[in-house]
Amino acid sequence: MNNKIWIFDTTLRDGEQALKASLNEDNKLQLAHAISRLNVDVMEVGFPVSSPADFRAVERIAQEVKGPIICGLARAVEKDIEACGLALKPAQQRRIHTFIATSPVHLQHKLRMSLDDATAMAVRSVQQALKYTDDVEFSCEDAGRTPHDDLCRIVETVINAGASTINLPDTVGYVTPDEYAAMISYLMNHVPNIDKARLSVHCHNDLGLAVANSIAAVQAGARQIECTVNGIGERAGNCSLEEVAMILKMRQDHLNVYSDICTKEIYRTSRQVSQICNMPVQPNKAIVGENAFAHSSGIHQDGMLKAQNTYEIMSPETVGVPGNQLNMTSRSGRHVIQHRLTELGYHAEDYDMDTLYQNFLALADQKGVVYDYDLEAMIYFDNQTNNDDHYQLNFVHAMSNSQTTASSTVGISIGGVAHSEAATGNGPVDASCKAIKRMTGMDVEILEYSLDATAKGEKSLGKVNIVARYDGRNYHDSGLATDIVEASVQAFIRIHNLIHRTQLISDLKQQRKTG
Ligand code: KIV
Ligand code: ZN
Repeated sequence: MNNKIWIFDTTLRDGEQALKASLNEDNKLQLAHAISRLNVDVMEVGFPVSSPADFRAVERIAQEVKGPIICGLARAVEKDIEACGLALKPAQQRRIHTFIATSPVHLQHKLRMSLDDATAMAVRSVQQALKYTDDVEFSCEDAGRTPHDDLCRIVETVINAGASTINLPDTVGYVTPDEYAAMISYLMNHVPNIDKARLSVHCHNDLGLAVANSIAAVQAGARQIECTVNGIGERAGNCSLEEVAMILKMRQDHLNVYSDICTKEIYRTSRQVSQICNMPVQPNKAIVGENAFAHSSGIHQDGMLKAQNTYEIMSPETVGVPGNQLNMTSRSGRHVIQHRLTELGYHAEDYDMDTLYQNFLALADQKGVVYDYDLEAMIYFDNQTNNDDHYQLNFVHAMSNSQTTASSTVGISIGGVAHSEAATGNGPVDASCKAIKRMTGMDVEILEYSLDATAKGEKSLGKVNIVARYDGRNYHDSGLATDIVEASVQAFIRIHNLIHRTQLISDLKQQRKTG
């Protein structure tokens, strides 16, 4: 049996259909180019009959994106197949994917027809689709809940009609891996013409089993996996492309199959899909989550420094992530801190480890994660207290209501000299930050802003976390107050202090070099 697993990406069809707002044509085209760089075999890019906009997007992708087979979805009805065939016409290689439900629950309640009627519609659709392309895929929607013998009947008939790929979706994410594998084996053993088609699987993640089910199906003989980038899709999503691709790569020794996915493109594509689809990736998501290659526990960090394979089964570079990350938190040991300082160019005689580690733990408790610039500040400004800060908040007086523009007057001291300034903005936080920027003369750009409540009810404190960019470098800090505007202003001022200290450190380093 051929060992290649075809990767059929449906991010722009099954994934897109689950978004709160549909993607426009340009966005779809941009993502189609990115997904084609992953070297997927087939890319399902829309459902042309569903709207004129979707038709145009499929047509444009068919014109402009070269490489993968471009596929469109069509119900087993004439107007769908026609729209699909027309939209796909410009593609170098095209596939029509047509489907009809086969499970008793769908046949009885949704379609109100018998399996024989559904089979007749499927055959007509496959035959119609063959007029536009010789590459026709047929799906038995809700195959996971269809009796095996019913599946065998319809599958044998549509293969005879000319379908060359047979897809068996677990549409509602219900089956378990052993059941799904048993279904594939049953079809392989009971459909006489099964060797004329490639078996495909399409799993939804309602019970979190989409990837496991897809792999189990491959072990039973399926040779195409349908999946989406970041696992986006209906309800709990679809099988995740990056997980499947990395399982096939990392466990080829065990599975004895491979895909042609260019894994180095995974991370970049994942970011693009997340941004354009406005769907954040959960931090602990396998392969592409922010923490997928971050090590926090002291024991793990120590192991990683001794040998990477102690706690990492694949290198981040394999999926296009620039490097792994040892998060410096209160769980980090001295070994990690020393290692990071050495990477930053410091020698053991530049600091007293006992003092520095105590300061590090105190800051880590307060801030969560300690960054490079915090570590460097500990070397240069031993026992720094807030009273030493260059920028200090004296007061903030912000006003906002639903009718007028928000305004704020902020008072700060800069190097001990008091200043105050007023500004307007699209909210009280924006107005306050503008006032601060006017006084400091620094164009600090806020990249990320998040707000958490740290307790319930009247005693609740607002914790504002800000990631900001200045002079090509990112800075992170937080502010804590009962008033969220004040917490925001505190965080923003703290960021200014980090920048100030970083500038001082770079001057001191320069002096060391020249002096
Ligand atoms: O989940 C499903 O059954 C589908 C089919 C249209 C293939 O998306
Ligand atoms: Zn689906």
